[in-house]
Amino acid sequence: MSKEILFNAFEMTSAMHNSHGLWKHPESKRHTHYKDLDYWIKYAKLLEKGKFDAVFFADVLGVYDVYQKSKAPSIRDGLQVPLNDPALLISAMASVTENLSFAVTVSTTYEQPFGNARRFSTLDHLTKGRIAWNVVTSYLPNAARNFGLEDMIKHDERYNIADEYLEVSYKLWENSWEDGAVIEDIETNTLVDPEKVHEINHEGKYFKVEGPHLSEPSLQRTPVIYQAGTSEKGRDFAAKHAECIFVGGPTPQRIRFYADDIRERARKHGRNPETIKIFSFLNVVVGETTEEAERKFEEYAKVWSSDAAKAQYGASGYDIAEYEELDPDLPFEYSKSTEGGHYKAALLTKDAPKKLTVGEVLNRFETPGNYIVGNPEQVADGIQAQFEESGVDGFNLNHLVTPGDLEAFVELVVPVLQERGLYKKEYNKGTLREKLFPQNGRLLPSDHPAAKYRRVLAESK
Ligand SMILES: Cc1cc2nc3c(=O)[nH]c(=O)nc-3n(C[C@H](O)[C@H](O)[C@H](O)COP(=O)(O)O)c2cc1C
Repeated sequence: MSKEILFNAFEMTSAMHNSHGLWKHPESKRHTHYKDLDYWIKYAKLLEKGKFDAVFFADVLGVYDVYQKSKAPSIRDGLQVPLNDPALLISAMASVTENLSFAVTVSTTYEQPFGNARRFSTLDHLTKGRIAWNVVTSYLPNAARNFGLEDMIKHDERYNIADEYLEVSYKLWENSWEDGAVIEDIETNTLVDPEKVHEINHEGKYFKVEGPHLSEPSLQRTPVIYQAGTSEKGRDFAAKHAECIFVGGPTPQRIRFYADDIRERARKHGRNPETIKIFSFLNVVVGETTEEAERKFEEYAKVWSSDAAKAQYGASGYDIAEYEELDPDLPFEYSKSTEGGHYKAALLTKDAPKKLTVGEVLNRFETPGNYIVGNPEQVADGIQAQFEESGVDGFNLNHLVTPGDLEAFVELVVPVLQERGLYKKEYNKGTLREKLFPQNGRLLPSDHPAAKYRRVLAESK
């Protein structure tokens, strides 16, 4: 049987995520619905009907303000603002689903590990083990200023902080509470055995945490760890810690390069690469016929906002407005390095299949670009080709008009992929970790760095 594709819906609890300008489309009422619980409840049911593995909630802690050195372009187009807290939605979405999982983004640069560990333990309890944490180090200068800093912490230093942050988190999740600590012993008047609840007494370069963890152990203890990043530091961090890794790139070949590199790095960290799933992006517009899909895509392209796309590119730390004044035939180059995310910057230079001119780069922001557009069979062909050429395990599915595009995907594309044996007809049983890695059990495997903090290693099976 062929390998089955994993699918996450790529989401954000905001008016607009990656669908720049699409709020103007008559069928997109997302900017009114994103703050409505009923919308998210229906959304969760739709994804479970389509056997999606998870909904992946991206999150940021500031406004994009690099483009034109202003917040106005992103605010004007609702680019990831207004934006609500994704973690607060999960309970409601979990209560109407049984198998859909939830990945929630939290930054290690701005939030404290002690509070974050409790948040994820709580979510893991309430979802019965259907929770993942997307670990990010954050790239927005405005976020730094929202959390009391003058400037962003340097790129590589952010990953050093993240590394210690995870060490603290593992101690809280894996080491603090023994199994069976809640003994309910009426004779001795003891609900929880104090001998089985331990301080962690972490003292490192960035964090000092006494403990114990406030939550008792949840089904997965440590949530499934997600990460994205293509810089050297980012890949190494992912290879050490993550179980699900996003790899972005303009071509399937470049994605395969990063995926292979991360698997190799994981080996060097003593981890079995089979315990890692690699995801990339997927952009699809499907219709019942080719003509319908093309018409839809044209309508989407008409309302697309290149300004919002350029504002989002500010995540790289580069202001595209500076190139708008240049001769379009000049080669596109960066004159300095930035402390932004390397992934976005590399898309237009190092990762591009050929050297681009300024004009070619500016043109790229003008349309949604890189979409598979077609009838269900054509879209399934495109997905299959991308899956096989890139060697990934799954995709984060973007959508321009929500929930319309997702409804069409569930109705039209999912049955074709199922028919081809490329997509599950039933969910695996158990927690998210068991669904992803049925051979490994609900806890992290023993070759993961968190396992050394575990009190009883035998539990891992
Ligand atoms: C699929 C995907 C999802 C991401 N989600 C977020 C997010 O929600 N919040 C965030 O701050 N960064 C997010 N990022 C950015 C990464 O966390 C990271 O900062 C970026 O890829 C740059 O890392 P690098 O410098 O190691 O390449 C995402 C990246 C990708 C590819």
